[in-house]
Parts: sequence; structure tokens; C-alpha cells
Amino acid sequence: MNILIVGAGGREHALAWKIRQSPLLDRLFIAPGNGGTARIGVNVPVRDDDIPGLVSFARDNGVDLVVAGPELPLVLGLKEALDAVHIPCFGPCAFAAQLEGSKAFAKTMMRETGVPTADFRVFDTYVAALEYVRAHALPVVIKADGLAAGKGVVIAQTLVEAEEALKNMMLDRAFGDAGLTVVVEEALVGEEASFLAFCDGSTVVPMPSLQDHKRVGDGDTGPNTGGMGAYSPAPVLPADQSTTMADLAIRPITDRLAAIGQPFKGVLYAGLMMTAKGPMVLEYNVRFGDPECQPLMARLKSDLVGIMLACVRGSLAPEQVVFHPETSCCVVVAAGGYPGSYPKGMVITGIDEAEQVEGVTVFQAGTQLKDGVTVTSGGRVLGVTALGRDLQEARDRAYRGVSRVHFDNSYCRTDIAVKGLRRS
Ligand code: AMP
Ligand code: GLY
Repeated sequence: MNILIVGAGGREHALAWKIRQSPLLDRLFIAPGNGGTARIGVNVPVRDDDIPGLVSFARDNGVDLVVAGPELPLVLGLKEALDAVHIPCFGPCAFAAQLEGSKAFAKTMMRETGVPTADFRVFDTYVAALEYVRAHALPVVIKADGLAAGKGVVIAQTLVEAEEALKNMMLDRAFGDAGLTVVVEEALVGEEASFLAFCDGSTVVPMPSLQDHKRVGDGDTGPNTGGMGAYSPAPVLPADQSTTMADLAIRPITDRLAAIGQPFKGVLYAGLMMTAKGPMVLEYNVRFGDPECQPLMARLKSDLVGIMLACVRGSLAPEQVVFHPETSCCVVVAAGGYPGSYPKGMVITGIDEAEQVEGVTVFQAGTQLKDGVTVTSGGRVLGVTALGRDLQEARDRAYRGVSRVHFDNSYCRTDIAVKGLRRS
């Protein structure tokens, strides 16, 4: 069969790498793809937000399955548009995608279905939000309702910071319409974990736990990024808690969506905070995480295409989803300046050498293949991913791989998986 993956990051290269191994695959397209996907499939110059463009490409090229990498096309209705031309889509409908596209929607559904989450209120006027925040204990968390490229969350330590965040979002419209409604919530304390599950509309099959590293600097310092590295499993969320966690954080949502005729088909990702009072859901994503997808694909033993088809058809069975018992660790190599501004077009060397380290695969993110040369084109450039018998070995191999790749002013966090090592 012919498959079209939508997206251009490290997640999409990891999906392409895994899908490439499927016995079911004939032709593989990636829109728009990157330097890594160009080597294993055909990159198509269609953007991830160009829904009509994606649909007509799929229709004209005999695509049998479209796999949505990022959330934006799902929020914009990619699934419905593909339904209209009878092409299956791995990823939820626009209604269910509001779990990620609207924090007010997600929080309200969590409250209604009994999913543990931080106490919150939703506001659509600045004056009411300001009054509430002034009476709230500090720190207080302020979130833009809509998609804000990971920048719409402010953990305000002082009233001045809180008022500034509200003004920025609601009056100055820093995130456009996405910030006209805000969620104000209680700040939680604890270690974060990522918990993802395949869903076919009724059956939920959890994947092994992970931990991401969202801040740019060692010791979780500096601004938030898309994620600087991830490893799996995360000892903070052991495998024997997987079923309990699915019952707590995933099933209430998928059951509700099924009951209202909007079944969730795809990957539902719960961002968790492991607090002293137990796990709480911080947010939902309606897709694989990036970089979480990279260590997951490294560990996935089963055929991903078979799993995706079962999700779409509503025939998913737990036996279909088998992961290697090894641990995996992904270290992101970024361009100097990221998550702020950074130069592009720098030549990348050493990818093949890195992949000679046992267990290492280099997934490309912000890269482009130009006249046979791989150059940088984004902030997060590479995800050097390794399998190992345990976390120590996976981590050592990943960093050995990192030491072999080069481009000007590259940097990475040096403490990926350290929290996990302390617990294991
Ligand atoms: P979100 O997009 O909702 O996941 O928020 C982005 C990041 O902000 C999370 O990964 C957490 O690190 C942090 N965060 C979000 N909500 C809270 C909260 N209620 N308390 C503490 N930290 C939070
Ligand atoms: N790594 C976090 C995310 O994909 O949202």
C-alpha cells in the first residue's frame, strides 16, 4: 500500500523509518518531510496546514493511508477532508483534536469525566481573569486556550508576571485568537512523564512510559522548547502501572468521545505530573510526541502499519502492539540560539559515523538534503537515538553518537535521562 506521512520533524523521520520496514508498504511519501525522510521516501512539497493540497495529493497518487504527524492538520479537519474522498487517516477527527487545540475543551472534559487534573477556571474577559488571578495563591499557571507553538503556558511566580501574561495574551493578542480565552490553573509540583496509547475508538493499548526534557538547559533551566531529549521506559512511571494509568488518564476520555459519536482513532498522549497526591494530567496531545516518538519507534517490535490500520478500522488488539524490552534514549542536537532565533543552512557531518555506534539511529528533524549534502533548516536538528540493555547503556550510546555529529554552533543538553538513572 501507499502511505503519506504529514509533517517535517524528527517524529516524522522516526515514523517513516519504522513504516519503511513494513511488509505492507509499497510507496512512501512525506509532506513536506526533511533531509532524513528524503533518503527513505519521496518528499512532497505540500505544507502540513494545506488540507486541500494534502487531500488532492493523496487522491492523485493512490495513497491508501495518511498518517498525521503534528496536531495542526488534525485540528484543521484533515480527517474529515480525507473521509470525503474515502482515504483512511491515522489521527482523530477535528472534534476530538480539540483535546489539544483547546485547553478549555480538554480541561472541561477532564473535569466532566473525572480525570485528575489541576483545579482551573476558564476566562474570556481580561477583567474577570485579572480579578481571579489577584485573589489566587502564587504561583499560578496561565494558559492560552488555543495552539501557541508550545509558548502559551506561563507559570507566574509573582502577581506582576501573572498580570503581564494575561495582558500579553488577552489584550495584546500575542498568540492571536489562541489567547483570547485563557485557562487559569493551580501550579502542580512533581516529576513529569509522557504516557501515550494507541486508540481505535474503543480499545486502548498503552505504550511504554517516557520522560521528555522540555527546558533548554541542564537541570531543567531556561525557556521551554519542543523537547530536548526523551527516554523510555521512565522509571517514574513503571510498566506495572500502565493499565491503572490508562484507566485514569486515557479511557475516561476515549469512552466519552465514543459515547458522543466522536470516536478517537490514533494516538492519545497524556502529559502527566507525578505529584505527591498521585498522577495528574497536565495536557493532552492528539499525536505522537516529538521527541518521544523517536525512542518509541526504536523500541517498537510490531509492524506499525498493521497497528495503524487496526486503529483506523476499529480492530486493535493488545497482542498487536509489542515493544522490545530494551531501554531507548534520544538526545536532541539543536542549533545554537534555539528556542530563540538561530542560523540555518549549516552543513551537518558525522551522521553515518554516529550510526556505527552500536544501537544508534540518527533521526533528522530540522534538516534538508541540498545537492546531496545534509544541511540544517530548523532549531532541533537531530535526534540521536540509542537502544541499550538498560538506561545507562542506552544513554552512553546516544551521547557517543552525539559526539560524532557536527555542525557549527550545535549544542545539546548533557543531562538527558539523569533523573531516570537516579531512580533506576
Ligand atoms: P502544557 O502545554 O499544558 O503541557 O504545559 C507546558 C508545560 O508547562 C508542561 O510540560 C509543564 O512543565 C508546565 N505546566 C503546565 N501546567 C502546569 C501546572 N498546572 N503546574 C505546573 N507546571 C505546569
Ligand atoms: N515533546 C512534547 C510534545 O511533543 O508535545
